[in-house]
Amino acid sequence: MCGIVGYAGSAPAGPILLEGLQKLEYRGYDSAGIAVVSEDGVLQLKKTKGRLAALSELTDGGKCFSGCLGIGHTRWATHGEPNDVNSHPHLSEDGRVAVVHNGIIENYVEIKEFLQGEGVHFRSDTDTEVVAQLIEYYFRRSGDLLDAVFKVLHRIEGAYALGIICADDPDKFIAARKDAPLLLGYGEDCCFCASDATAILRHTRCVSYMDDGEVAVISRGGATVYDSMLRPVNKERHIIDWDVSSAEKGGYEHFMLKEIMEQPEAVRKTISPRIRDGRICFDGLSLTVDYIRSVQRICIVACGSSYHVGVVGKYNLEHLLHIPVEPCLASEFRYSDPVVGPNTLVIIISQSGETLDTMKALGKAKSLGAHTLAIVNVVGSSIARDADDVLYTWAGPEIAVATTKAYSTQLVLLDMLGVWLADMRGSISREEYGELMHALDRLPEQMQTVLDNTEDIKFLASRCFNHESVFFIGRNLDYALGMEGSLKLKEISYIHSEAYAGGELKHGTISLIVDGTLVIALGTYDPLFDKTMSNVVEVLSRGADVLALTTECNAEEMKKTVDKVLSVPDAHRILQPSLAVLPLQLFAYYVALQRGCDIDKPRNLAKSVTVE
Ligand code: G6P
Repeated sequence: MCGIVGYAGSAPAGPILLEGLQKLEYRGYDSAGIAVVSEDGVLQLKKTKGRLAALSELTDGGKCFSGCLGIGHTRWATHGEPNDVNSHPHLSEDGRVAVVHNGIIENYVEIKEFLQGEGVHFRSDTDTEVVAQLIEYYFRRSGDLLDAVFKVLHRIEGAYALGIICADDPDKFIAARKDAPLLLGYGEDCCFCASDATAILRHTRCVSYMDDGEVAVISRGGATVYDSMLRPVNKERHIIDWDVSSAEKGGYEHFMLKEIMEQPEAVRKTISPRIRDGRICFDGLSLTVDYIRSVQRICIVACGSSYHVGVVGKYNLEHLLHIPVEPCLASEFRYSDPVVGPNTLVIIISQSGETLDTMKALGKAKSLGAHTLAIVNVVGSSIARDADDVLYTWAGPEIAVATTKAYSTQLVLLDMLGVWLADMRGSISREEYGELMHALDRLPEQMQTVLDNTEDIKFLASRCFNHESVFFIGRNLDYALGMEGSLKLKEISYIHSEAYAGGELKHGTISLIVDGTLVIALGTYDPLFDKTMSNVVEVLSRGADVLALTTECNAEEMKKTVDKVLSVPDAHRILQPSLAVLPLQLFAYYVALQRGCDIDKPRNLAKSVTVE
């Protein structure tokens, strides 16, 4: 979703901002722009619909600007269609103030009407333009930019990360945050703000994370941060410990393929540091044994693929803990009346740690008295900081919009958490604990085996890529897995795809199965393999073209009925989805490749969904 970068330093700002925006491309966008102010107060603005290549051409690689201070933006349209005028930065009427924004100003209509009543003329259909216009309105009255910005922040409602420059104050820019990600970066003789660290990593690893309600005044010499009452705040500085190359393609055609292939290593990094003397250890959690034993219910709250991890978690944690486990969509949870209290453990899952609905759901769970534990990839993100406890997945930066290694690391971490909680509660036998530890140890290597053998998947993708509708069927963990397989396929190949619980077929979906309909049958959950086979026979007898995924021990049985069979090594039932998801990711990837889709930047999708 929208990306922001701001720079104040001694080098020309244009190329630095453009390069920063290129690093934010992965978040998803449909237009982009840059505004730079020169030392003598000339504000230049260039923006355009489309990819950054168009902005680069328009600005001669950013070199058309003169000035060492500016702001840049990639826009993911919410209010107003993606076009040149609606792109950011937005100017105030006199052209002296420019604003970039990520989020939604909910009361923009009311403010727009007020300003129009004052004779202000608007150019765009966006909610953001009111911010630029309102700053000008207050600035004209006080002549003090910071004061004007504070007045605006007290008047607007909604979510925002803002970058603001003013031609009358050319030595500094202002950044503000509420419910949208924004960090500050401290370089040598320069200072940044950015939606995430990838944008500025080439220049500095030293960052501070802005908190809600904070405003930063940024100049080449550093940043002064204020809270919402204009009191100065001392910000802790953090050093980013991953390097630029982990956010680059490293010889792969797409980030998605690179990240698929990184999974064994990523999962190893998630598992290994948490196993000592053959036992799972989570250091630094505030959860006590007494509390863990008092938990009566678990809610797993997330969006998208992270939610699908929660669905797998429902089956696995209920198996391990014998208490109700409910996967909840964050966007529903936050607007419902969930039965949550002190004896509910709420597990929040988020790769980015910035998904707005998930953040709000976390707030709701806390307000209801639940203990919140977040599984997050991005260190220092809002969710990681707000939850009572956090477990990091340590998957490294994930750039492709369609998640793969974040999903896999979340999944294994949630499984480990389940085993750890079960051990504390005494609900897992010593034997199963031992089997699981052994299985965890083997998992990265087994994942590697699947990824070393992609030829069959590639071949089957070449036979299936022209279908326009696909059904994934499976039971129990395979149903949960089907949700993710189906999402992967539709996200990047634009094929209509749905996941169904095998047992539900007869209650409707089977009416859609006709000659040639592609059905992907998941039979990796051994206890229900026979039931799934019955479903396979049902769809085959109605003419379906079936592709089956199963485990090695059931592959021969499956081949008696189905021609197209993929298999993964056998594993402990709890970890089987961690292996089975890999062929589904690769299948989606190769299908999308055959269809010529923009795999890393699928249409209309964003990596980090920071608006609701
Ligand atoms: C977007 C991404 C998905 C992700 C979901 C939740 O839709 O494209 O890959 O699963 O957001 O994001 P989160 O960062 O909270 O895991």
